[in-house]
Amino acid sequence: MEITGARILVPGATGAIGSALAEQLHQQGAHIAIAGRDAAALAKLSHTCAGVPSRRFDAYDLDSCAGTVAWAHDVLGGLDGVVVCVGVAGFGQADAVGDAIAEHLLTVNALAPMAFLRAALPLVPRGGLVAAVTGVVVDLAPAGMADYTASKAALALWLTCVRREQRRKGVRVLDLRLDHVESGFADRAVTGSPPSLPRGQTVPEAVNAIMDALESKG
Ligand SMILES: NC(=O)c1ccc[n+]([C@@H]2O[C@H](COP(=O)([O-])OP(=O)(O)OC[C@H]3O[C@@H](n4cnc5c(N)ncnc54)[C@H](OP(=O)(O)O)[C@@H]3O)[C@@H](O)[C@H]2O)c1
Repeated sequence: MEITGARILVPGATGAIGSALAEQLHQQGAHIAIAGRDAAALAKLSHTCAGVPSRRFDAYDLDSCAGTVAWAHDVLGGLDGVVVCVGVAGFGQADAVGDAIAEHLLTVNALAPMAFLRAALPLVPRGGLVAAVTGVVVDLAPAGMADYTASKAALALWLTCVRREQRRKGVRVLDLRLDHVESGFADRAVTGSPPSLPRGQTVPEAVNAIMDALESKG
């Protein structure tokens, strides 16, 4: 996708990766709308990006995710792409993670991104894209993070099916399957503590990888 002039919504724009991506998209001439939970972080990012439109949502309110897509389509005068950067980590053996935590992880990491992209599919034209950040846990299936991994795997497989559905329409469906990133994400886990991890990518490296995926024609 040609970034310059593209109308792109970034849900999760208050996070480390989402905010850096939003800034990069803005600097490269995209018309962005930003969405997140943290009002102060949203206002700060909007200010940094020349006052781009912003809106709050909570991943637990799936209607607010879908409503944010309709809002972005309105304020941007159309929508060429949505890149979901929402997510929360959770650690612990499956028999130590309660159902409430499992529900939290599945809602924030799978149902909310699906709600954003589901609402975007009828609005994004041929040549546009929908994308969400998953993670290499989908391939690695590590011990000690079954519920987090299951939530990302659900999202990844959903994206694979939707990619098939959208092929004829010409909308690209991207699974941004990042390796570990030094963003502090693991330390903000809803439960448990991370295992010792090898040094990960920097946030700018992760954003470059995402930009490459958005710009690629494949
Ligand atoms: N960092 C890594 O090692 C890594 C590796 C692979 C994939 N990923 C994925 O990359 C994405 C971004 O992660 P990050 O590293 O940038 O972490 P981050 O800084 O913690 O960002 C997470 C984002 O998700 C939002 N979020 C969490 N719970 C929410 C809720 N209930 N309602 C609304 N928003 C909510 C956060 O909003 P607030 O600002 O309000 O908290 C924030 O915008 C996530 O999907 C993560 O799974 C990260």
